[in-house]
Amino acid sequence: MHFTTTLLATLAPLALAGNAIVQNACTDPVYLWSVGASVGERQTVEPGANYTETTHYDDVSGGIALKITRTENGLYDGSPQTNFQYALTDHLYYDLFDVYGDPFSGSTLVVHPSLDTCTNICWGGGVRALVTSQTEACSTDADITLTLCAESC
Ligand SMILES: *[C@@H]1O[C@H](CO)[C@@H](O)[C@H](O)[C@H]1NC(C)=O
Repeated sequence: MHFTTTLLATLAPLALAGNAIVQNACTDPVYLWSVGASVGERQTVEPGANYTETTHYDDVSGGIALKITRTENGLYDGSPQTNFQYALTDHLYYDLFDVYGDPFSGSTLVVHPSLDTCTNICWGGGVRALVTSQTEACSTDADITLTLCAESC
């Protein structure tokens, strides 16, 4: 039994990880929670600053959602929320979607992977243009950067 546990621990995902970055190019602070099986502490991202975490796999939820609002208690008061979601498995999968409204409507949101072979996600007007979800995939060691209030796509 003990052997089995040790063996499983040794076989835990060895994939190389990159960073998930949220870059705040807006003129006001944004508020971010990293949510997997549990909800992380609120992070305040000042204008011109970044939030960065190492991409990781969550045993329970699988994926991680970086939930972003423009109000301080936004996660808990039903404010419009942008979700920058990723799952680190055989690939790094990433997606962008809003719930309860579009907090960045009227500005540009861009998800830019560090590898040129992977696909950007760009919301020119701060809202999703496609009806269907646009989940993209990149290699596990890529960095993915979401820029809020980007200059252009
Ligand atoms: C934020 O991240 C972007 C993209 O990775 C990088 O180019 C920029 O220098 C970072 N800015 C700060 C303030 O660390």
